[in-house]
Amino acid sequence: MNRKINSIHLTSLTKTKKLADAIAGYIKNNDCLAIKGDVGVGKTTFTSFLIKKITNSPNLVITSPTFTIINQYNYNNKQIWHCDLYRLHDYNDLVNIGILEPPKNTILIIEWPDLILQYMAKQPLLLCIDNIAAKKRVVNIYSIEEKWQQLSKLKI
Ligand SMILES: Nc1ncnc2c1ncn2[C@@H]1O[C@H](COP(=O)(O)OP(=O)(O)O)[C@@H](O)[C@H]1O
Ligand SMILES: [Mg+2]
Repeated sequence: MNRKINSIHLTSLTKTKKLADAIAGYIKNNDCLAIKGDVGVGKTTFTSFLIKKITNSPNLVITSPTFTIINQYNYNNKQIWHCDLYRLHDYNDLVNIGILEPPKNTILIIEWPDLILQYMAKQPLLLCIDNIAAKKRVVNIYSIEEKWQQLSKLKI
C-alpha cells in the first residue's frame, strides 16, 4: 500500500521546474521514480527538468522515450534511465529491455509504470499528475519507503 505524502499544485511550467529541482536534491543512486498521468499531462516535461538538475546540465536535450522505450544519460560514471513503458505489454517485454535488472547505481525514471510496479523489489517514489486547467497540474506524491516521507514538508 502506498502512502500519500504530499499534493502540490503546479500553476505554471516554472513551478513544475521548481518541483523537479527540489526532488532532484533528494535523489540518490539506485532510486526509482514512477510517473503516472494521461498523455500530455507533463511527465516528460517534469523528467526533463529533473534530469537536467541531477546532471547539472541545463542545456542537455531530453527527448521523450516513447519510441526508444529507454533513453540513457551518463553522469559521473553512472546512469539515468528515462523509460516510457506505454508500448510494452507484459512481463517478457520488461525482461527483454533489461529494466528489471539495471546496472548498479542506475537512477530509474519511469513513465507509464503500471506494468512494472508489481515486479519492483523496492517501491518507487510515485508521482501522479493530473491536468486541472490549461497550464495547471496537480501532483500527488506517494511512497511507502521511509526515505521519501521527508517530501511531506515540500512546498512549491
Ligand atoms: N505546469 C505544467 N507542467 C508541465 N507541463 C506543462 C505545464 N503547463 C503546460 N505544460 C505543457 O504540457 C505539455 C506536456 O507534454 P509532455 O511532458 O510530453 O507530457 P507527457 O510526457 O505526460 O505525455 C508540454 O507541452 C508542456 O509545455
Ligand atoms: Mg511522455
